[in-house]
Amino acid sequence: MTNSTRRGFLRQAAGTAAFLAYPHARVLGANNRVRVGMIGVGNRGQDLLEEVSAVPNTQLVAIADVYGRRRDEARKKALGILTFDDHRRLLDIKDIDVVIVASPLHTHARHFLDTLAAGKDLYSEKTMTWSIPEAEQCLAAAKQSGRVVQIGLQWESSGALQDARKWIKDGTVGKVTQVESWMSRNTPHGQGQWVRPIPSDCTAHNVNWSAFLNGRPDRPFDPYRLINWRLFWEFSGGNVTENMVHQIAWIMTALDLPLPTAAFMSGGTFSEKDGREVPDTIAVTLDFPNDLVVTWQSTFSNSHFGLGEHILGSDGTIEHGWGASDMVNGEEGEFIRYSPEKVNRPHGTALTGKTPDQDHMTNWIECIRSRKTPNAPVEIGYRSAIAVHMANLAYRHKQRVTLEMARSFAPEF
Ligand SMILES: NC(=O)c1ccc[n+]([C@@H]2O[C@H](COP(=O)([O-])OP(=O)(O)OC[C@H]3O[C@@H](n4cnc5c(N)ncnc54)[C@H](O)[C@@H]3O)[C@@H](O)[C@H]2O)c1
Repeated sequence: MTNSTRRGFLRQAAGTAAFLAYPHARVLGANNRVRVGMIGVGNRGQDLLEEVSAVPNTQLVAIADVYGRRRDEARKKALGILTFDDHRRLLDIKDIDVVIVASPLHTHARHFLDTLAAGKDLYSEKTMTWSIPEAEQCLAAAKQSGRVVQIGLQWESSGALQDARKWIKDGTVGKVTQVESWMSRNTPHGQGQWVRPIPSDCTAHNVNWSAFLNGRPDRPFDPYRLINWRLFWEFSGGNVTENMVHQIAWIMTALDLPLPTAAFMSGGTFSEKDGREVPDTIAVTLDFPNDLVVTWQSTFSNSHFGLGEHILGSDGTIEHGWGASDMVNGEEGEFIRYSPEKVNRPHGTALTGKTPDQDHMTNWIECIRSRKTPNAPVEIGYRSAIAVHMANLAYRHKQRVTLEMARSFAPEF
């Protein structure tokens, strides 16, 4: 990307509205109904539609989606809602208080900034943004706006995270110099992970294609890219923005970590060579200040170990896992446990975490009423976004990338 395209790109991402003063929104009392709008009601958006509809005293008023089929599906799930193919029409509605964004990654920053500029509180799916400059803009806008922002990093509301934080704060883990983490999946031979079929009504007539492109170079309607945007760098960050982001946010919150100082990422498209650009086999190393290295690895052609994190301390170990194959019982559910290191805690006892999860959507709605900070605020959305973008930049530039280098690279399609 040239410098002038880069400047154009940044202007595009910001929109002009983000530089205006942030309007005051309606003050909601404990009994006021929270009126909700949604941008992007595909796979994840329809789950979130059901989640927010289940929170007492909320009302879904309108949704915006570029694809007619998704608008029809949403209308069936929430009778009487308004529907739009352009998110700006939804944001024009004065009595929508809050907005949920579950659109593809390359549109998150636009929807984030426009929602705040319209004076509404925001729930934005992860990863917070597609690029580092966008993450900087969204962080600044969220702070300036004073709106309640929850990022769709729902593990930040998990009981296991509370357990891990407590054990670390209590000193039972000691000095942590290394964290190992991984996430693995498998698919039947010949069926690449994430690849979705194209519905027969996915035609130029039924899709607001220019709104989907959101400033990416114009081209004729391409239903494969609309449906399978995850496979292409222009719209996606691959598995580090889809899944590593959840785990790195969890690790950063557990250990109160600042931004990484450097990242390296190797791997490639090894599982199914189906034309995707983003790698399906990944090994990431992140360096943090104060003597800590975090690794994350991922494959799409073996699921035996599910996903998890090992926090390795001089005085003890925290193991958190989910979905590993259990030889006896099938799949093992979520667990978190602590084991003392006998050399430094000879009388320490093993612990199992039992703190219940909070509902992430309910936490957001409660914070909209109380104006408290939600469990996954913009700061963790920002830090986790920077970490995963550093990893992708290292992969794409084929070199170890420091934070300063990552900030200086122009975003690349
Ligand atoms: N938190 C989680 O556990 C979790 C799980 C899955 C997906 N996600 C995130 O949710 C987001 C959506 O993923 P998905 O699997 O639902 O994708 P999807 O393709 O199924 O849904 C995206 C929807 O956005 C619509 N859309 C595209 N451009 C738009 C625009 N400019 N304005 C309005 N609508 C637009 C599409 O038509 C589609 O209906 C991604 O950011 C993904 O990372 C989060």
